[in-house]
Amino acid sequence: MTFYMSAIILTELMMIAMTLHVLHYSGFTREQKTWYLLTFSAVMLCSAAEFAVHCGAYDPKFAIPLTILTVLQFSVAPLLGVLFSGALGLPGQKKIAIWFIAINFAVETIAAPFGLVFSFGEDGYSRGRLFLIYEAFYFVSLVYLIVSMVRVGRRFRNRDARTIAMILLILIAGIIPMTVFKLNITYIAIAIGASLCYIYYNDLVQQDIQAELVANQAALSRMQSHIITGLASLIENRDVETGEHVLRTGAFVETLTRDAIKDGVYLDQLNETFVSKMTTLAPMHDIGKIVVSDKILRKPGRLTSEEFEEMKKHAAVGGDVIREVLEGVTDEDYLSFAADIATYHHERWDGTGYPKGLSGEKIPLAARIMAIADVFDALVSERCYKEPFSFEESVGIIEDGAGTQFDPQLVGVFLRHRSEFR
Ligand SMILES: [Fe+2]
Repeated sequence: MTFYMSAIILTELMMIAMTLHVLHYSGFTREQKTWYLLTFSAVMLCSAAEFAVHCGAYDPKFAIPLTILTVLQFSVAPLLGVLFSGALGLPGQKKIAIWFIAINFAVETIAAPFGLVFSFGEDGYSRGRLFLIYEAFYFVSLVYLIVSMVRVGRRFRNRDARTIAMILLILIAGIIPMTVFKLNITYIAIAIGASLCYIYYNDLVQQDIQAELVANQAALSRMQSHIITGLASLIENRDVETGEHVLRTGAFVETLTRDAIKDGVYLDQLNETFVSKMTTLAPMHDIGKIVVSDKILRKPGRLTSEEFEEMKKHAAVGGDVIREVLEGVTDEDYLSFAADIATYHHERWDGTGYPKGLSGEKIPLAARIMAIADVFDALVSERCYKEPFSFEESVGIIEDGAGTQFDPQLVGVFLRHRSEFR
């Protein structure tokens, strides 16, 4: 009997804990929460009734209240199968639950005064001649539950069918004490089953949330790259050379950055995220050219010093243009990365570049990579003011710029992997 009472107390406490968790958990819909709360409350009611009947403090004067309590318990206990099915997420359980409890309650209420299912005599509780009625209801409930579990298993394409099988096994095992030892504790098995089911569902909900997050992130990335491609083609429409240039430099910076990682250069900053940002955002490096007039941008031949000063503004305003266009579309990390490339890609390692005259590692790494890509592509390409340089000549010019115009470590990487840039 001590073991029996301990099991009842344990069940009560377990259901209180589960109830508190459901109340404060945000992952379920209101309907799912209601079914779980009903399941847990029903188990608590049945356990409390068992405790009141079997706690050893029986007095014949409690016969009537205990009879009422047991009628309630016997009406609710077979309902657990339906409540549990609702908690499993099966639709249409409300109507079935109402029918189940109505029929059970009616039968138990009619049988109670005659002591057909159970009675309270001088010695307390005893089973009636027709206790089988209660067992029959219970059996129907369990069959119903088994069918529900199978349906749930199908619905989730047998995702973790083992969990469902495990819950079923516990529930079926719960019948043994009732039939063999005459202990009405099947709902203890239901309590364990409901808890397992809750944990299982919780896991499914988490998986769904995770999948949604990944999908949202992918959609956001696609949106960003659409906007960036759109902006890059905006430049292309104004200046054909620059248009092709932005696309080529995108591929160039990706190769150079990956090579730097391979060579173990700047590993404190370089990683896959950096490569991805660098590749996506490099096409925006000349976005500031939007403020440079067509006359200067499309001028054949060399620019005058005034015109060159005008041209230089594209770097100074590049960051601002990026912030204006991308603010709110992407996060600060992305914004500042893109702004750094646009603003500082004409800085020089020796500090004689523009717009700020930054030197060495004060120039953001992304802009230092961009600078090599930008110049190298300009060298090997035909421009309205010049013929293309040969590949070897262009590599030589970059090599000469190491430590003056360009970051010497990055030039080293470029030279070691020169064949990849042909
Ligand atoms: Fe530029």
